[in-house]
Order: sequence, then structure tokens, then C-alpha cells
Amino acid sequence: MAKRIQFARTGGSEVLELVDGTPADPAPGEVRVKNQAVGLNFIDIYFRTGLYPAPSLPSGLGTEGAGVVDAVGEGVDHLREGDRVAYAQGPLGAYGEYHVLPADKAVVLPDGVDFETAAASMLKGLTVQYLLRQTYPLKGGETILWHAAAGGVGSIACQWARALGVKVIGTVSSPEKARLAKDNGAWETIDYTREDVVERVRELTSGEMCDVVYDSVGKDTWITSLDCLKPRSLMVSFGNASGAVEGVNLGILNQKGSLFVTRPSLNGYADTRERLEMMCRDLFEMLGSGKVKVDIGQRYALADAAKAQDALAARQTTGSTILLP
Ligand SMILES: NC(=O)c1ccc[n+]([C@@H]2O[C@H](COP(=O)([O-])OP(=O)(O)OC[C@H]3O[C@@H](n4cnc5c(N)ncnc54)[C@H](OP(=O)(O)O)[C@@H]3O)[C@@H](O)[C@H]2O)c1
Repeated sequence: MAKRIQFARTGGSEVLELVDGTPADPAPGEVRVKNQAVGLNFIDIYFRTGLYPAPSLPSGLGTEGAGVVDAVGEGVDHLREGDRVAYAQGPLGAYGEYHVLPADKAVVLPDGVDFETAAASMLKGLTVQYLLRQTYPLKGGETILWHAAAGGVGSIACQWARALGVKVIGTVSSPEKARLAKDNGAWETIDYTREDVVERVRELTSGEMCDVVYDSVGKDTWITSLDCLKPRSLMVSFGNASGAVEGVNLGILNQKGSLFVTRPSLNGYADTRERLEMMCRDLFEMLGSGKVKVDIGQRYALADAAKAQDALAARQTTGSTILLP
């Protein structure tokens, strides 16, 4: 028997239940991983609340984890029992002692990357990889605005962008989060709960404004973000922590300076095995070089997944959060 978290209806964190069951055997092309650590992500909350529909209910939750392959389905040749692996994509169900997933979504971990670091950085670090290296290939010398700079994705982004020679202006909601973002390499921070973000960006950039804005807050920051951009530059809207951006009139991109906008996702970038491996190489190199150190701000027992999600939704967490089975 093995424990996992599931939900039978969408709603608040009270819908999450810890259940016991026999872990499934891997089908052809799949592997079963005995999780050593599981990553907590905001997207898990979107599935739990129903903002993103789960394929069926009851459903498992979570897509990020790290552990040891303990069973291999037919036709899998790149993984063997005993391999140390991590994953960030695939079916919901990572919140558990075991997770069965397509083998082509799991990658072997380099020796230097431990399970907790991997679970705290696969989804978030691969997201930063595509955002900084592909969505807008930063060269160094740019100034970017990054919302929620002390969060899980934000903490990795500040370090990675600094390593690229990019100036990050990070928004945060408290002095403690400002300090963390600065420690992670943010050039300047703005408390977006009490300061005028557009005016501060204007001041900091001597009126030039930003080359790219990375916005995962969504509804609350959409207009502010557009106002922080240089003419003809790029708005990257990649999350909905405050709610989804809806009802956009395209004309606003014209009014705010002939702007470009994109709404990317990890699955849209790591959509082939080849691309996933390329992105992992880049991430593992950043981790191995020490240029990116993953900050695990919180660890919870798997059974306390609801508490962990409540803390994330209430803006009480910093850096990454992991669940320990
Ligand atoms: N598209 C993709 O491929 C992709 C992949 C991974 C993550 N994401 C998105 O990236 C964002 C960050 O993910 P994460 O897991 O690392 O979370 P996180 O940044 O650790 O937590 C979210 C942060 O958003 C800020 N926030 C602002 N308004 C909020 C509100 N109304 N409610 C809750 N939080 C609010 C808070 O920081 P302050 O207290 O400083 O405001 C909070 O700590 C999420 O929106 C997620 O969906 C997108």
C-alpha cells in the first residue's frame, strides 16, 4: 500500500484527501517512480480550484517530483530500475509516495543534484529556462521587470538573469521578500502593495522602461505591466496567481506602444524529448555551476499538502516548497 493525495471535487484545500492504495504498474512506455520529494506549484492550486480542469475526478494532483525508478514498463530503454530521476510534466498525481508517468517525461539526475533540489527546481527551473532563453533570448544588458520575485519561479529567475548580465527589477509584497529577491540577484525591488510600480520603474530606468515584463500575477498586474514596457517590447504573461487576465481588447497593445504579448507554458516549450533534454542540460548546468542555488523555503509532510497549498495561496511562502512523502 502507498499514500497519495487526491481530490474528488474542486474547491478549497479541504477537498484534498490522503488516501491509501496499491500503486499502479507501469504500462508500456511508462515508469513508476518512488518519490523522495515532490514539488509544490501554483498550477496545482489552479487544478484543485477548477481554474484548469482536471481530465477526470477523482484525480491525483501535482506534476513535479524526484525519486528512484522502481518499475519500468515494456519498451522503455533509456531508464532502468534504480535510476535517480526527476520530472515536471505528465499526468496529475505527483503528490504521492509513487507516481507512474510516461518514461519520456523523466530525466536522469546528475550526481550533484539531490532529490530535494530537483523536486524544487524541475518545473520552476525549466520554466525560467524557456522564459529567459527562448521566449525572449536575453543577451545581457537588458532591464526586465519580474513580478513575485521572491517566489519559487522568481527566486530562480533572479539568479539566472543576473548570471546573464540582465538587470532585474523585482516586485514583492514585503521587506523580507525584498531582501530575499536582492540576495538572489535582483538589481532593485518594488513593493507593489504600496508603491507606484510604473513611476518607480520610470525612475529606475531614467524613463527608458523595460525590455521585457514577466508577469505571473495576472489579473491584478496586467495593466501596470503593459505600462512598464518600452515601445515595441514584449509582455510575457505566464501565470494567474491573482486570477486570470480576461477580456483583453487587442487595441490596448497599440495604445501602450505597439507591444507584443505572449502567453506561454512549459508544455508548449518542452514538447519533445529532444527539447526537454536540451532544457534540462541548461538547467543542470546552471545548478552545477552554482550560479543558481535553489532556495527551499518550506518543507511539508505529504499529508500536509493542504496546509502547504494554503500557505502558497496566502503569499506566505518564499522560494520553493516541497512535500516529503
Ligand atoms: N506558464 C508556465 O509555464 C508556468 C510554469 C510555472 C509557474 N507558472 C506561474 O508562475 C507563478 C509562480 O509560481 P510559483 O509556484 O513559483 O509560485 P510563487 O511565486 O512561489 O507564489 C506566488 C506568488 O505570487 C504573488 N502574488 C501576487 N498576488 C497574489 C495573489 N493574489 N495570491 C497569491 N499570490 C500572489 C505572491 O508573491 P508576493 O507576496 O511577493 O506578491 C506569491 O508568493 C504562478 O502564477 C504560476 O502559475 C507558470
